[in-house]
Amino acid sequence: MSQTPARAIATGGALGAEVIGVDLRDVDDHSFRTIHKAWLDHLVLLFRGQILSDDQLIAFSRRLGELDLAPIQETGRRFVEGYPEIYIVSNAIENGAPIGSLGAGELVWHTDMSYQEDPPKASMLYALEVPPEGGKTGFLNMYDAYQALPLQLKERITGLWVKHDGTYNSGGYVRAGVTPSNDPREAPGTIHPLVCTHPETGRRCLYLGRRRNAYIDGLPLAESEALLDEIWACATRDELTWYNDWRVGDLVLWDNRCTMHRRDPFDPAARRIMHRTQIKGETRPVA
Ligand code: OGA
Ligand code: MN
Repeated sequence: MSQTPARAIATGGALGAEVIGVDLRDVDDHSFRTIHKAWLDHLVLLFRGQILSDDQLIAFSRRLGELDLAPIQETGRRFVEGYPEIYIVSNAIENGAPIGSLGAGELVWHTDMSYQEDPPKASMLYALEVPPEGGKTGFLNMYDAYQALPLQLKERITGLWVKHDGTYNSGGYVRAGVTPSNDPREAPGTIHPLVCTHPETGRRCLYLGRRRNAYIDGLPLAESEALLDEIWACATRDELTWYNDWRVGDLVLWDNRCTMHRRDPFDPAARRIMHRTQIKGETRPVA
């Protein structure tokens, strides 16, 4: 089946582009090259009006690389049956049990699964049901967040490593199998360079993971807290963001290496169902 050529239109925000002229069930090599370049240029891509089965979502995801298995749900279950690559983000309850993770509350700024040594380079969310209001997902441009730091702060953080907490997920839920600790020095996690070089673009960006239980390796706790607060205040300003107001059929692909994301809360009585895949990183985060 032939398609009109894929084309990316910048959102006008600090990052993100909408890709038009693509049916993700049928992406030829030329369109894929356009998509891949647009992704590196814009960090987050929105594809509207997609109609995808789980198999088709996985097939498109695999064009970007090998898939990571979904993290285990808060309840300790792994979803979907037969599709270990798919993580369901949903507040819906069916037959008395939640069908997915992360509820209906706010999700704080974070990047996915950075508590691992080899975090996924990309994630994508595909919207199956959306609430009438709320539940928007925001993205932050971490190249610009780095550039926007005062020179003195840039110099101060050069060479530092930060621990990415493995205790809590972005909804504040304790991850399955973890004994919670609120001492950032003791909490489980992985250290990564605070300033990373993107392996594909060569550009420098901040790599923060999430704020709760973060710890700058080797510093006294109070100093680590104060420095992290200062960096986070600079990095999470509104002018560095773009938000997607979801419609059913939206697929959003983001680069975990150079963005963070968050979600607005929504009415818990409304239903929101997203299916997520995550693509393995080929390299560990490097300074
Ligand atoms: C995620 C996530 C945001 C959302 O799936 O990794 O952070 O809007 N989801 O549901
Ligand atoms: Mn996330």
